[in-house]
Amino acid sequence: VLRVAVLISGRGSNLGALIAAQRRGELPIEIVLVASNKTAAEGLRLAEANGIATLALDPASQPDRARYDAELFARVGAFAPDLIVLAGFMRVLDAAVLAPWAGRIINIHPSLLPKYAGLHTHKRALAAGDTVHGASVHFVTAELDGGPLLACSEITIEPGDSPDTLAQRLLPREHALLCRCVQWLAQGRAEWRDGTVHFDGVPLLQVLRV
Ligand code: GAR
Repeated sequence: VLRVAVLISGRGSNLGALIAAQRRGELPIEIVLVASNKTAAEGLRLAEANGIATLALDPASQPDRARYDAELFARVGAFAPDLIVLAGFMRVLDAAVLAPWAGRIINIHPSLLPKYAGLHTHKRALAAGDTVHGASVHFVTAELDGGPLLACSEITIEPGDSPDTLAQRLLPREHALLCRCVQWLAQGRAEWRDGTVHFDGVPLLQVLRV
């Protein structure tokens, strides 16, 4: 059973999807901690309601970004997770705290990376006139939304779509995508080693589609 820590900043619907999939017996994981930089994050309440340990660490409690990240990761590390999942965690993390977790920390991002790293992804996809949009899961490195890709899920952009309708239609796809990636990691089917993402023991040549 893979010990998983989930980092969030808000609603926690991706966290909810992981909890539900774990309950259905689809994920051989234990969510050992849900941590947030926002004390008021709804996802923290969801974790509590499910009997999961929570941690809220306010960035204002630390003198600077590097020390915040170090404190956060020291506390998360105390739960001895095998995997850290960034599920709507809206902060950039310091290279120093990420290094020891290389290959053991993933992020879900609401775009078809490498397109639209950063914020306002739905708006940017619309503004570019894209006809396809989606979400991606990647291993986290110090480069913002830039680590090696594992899988993505695509949706079609329809005439009349707005950032809100795109976000709404993408969300269930995100949930399925994240659950599937965590499942692959928990089963040992997916891994990032020697600088390459492997799937079923062979280097991944193309981003997987969920
Ligand atoms: C999700 O759409 C996730 O892809 C996005 O935040 C949302 C969190 O929703 N993440 C990012 O934008 C990361 N840069 P949730 O709290 O309901 O899971």
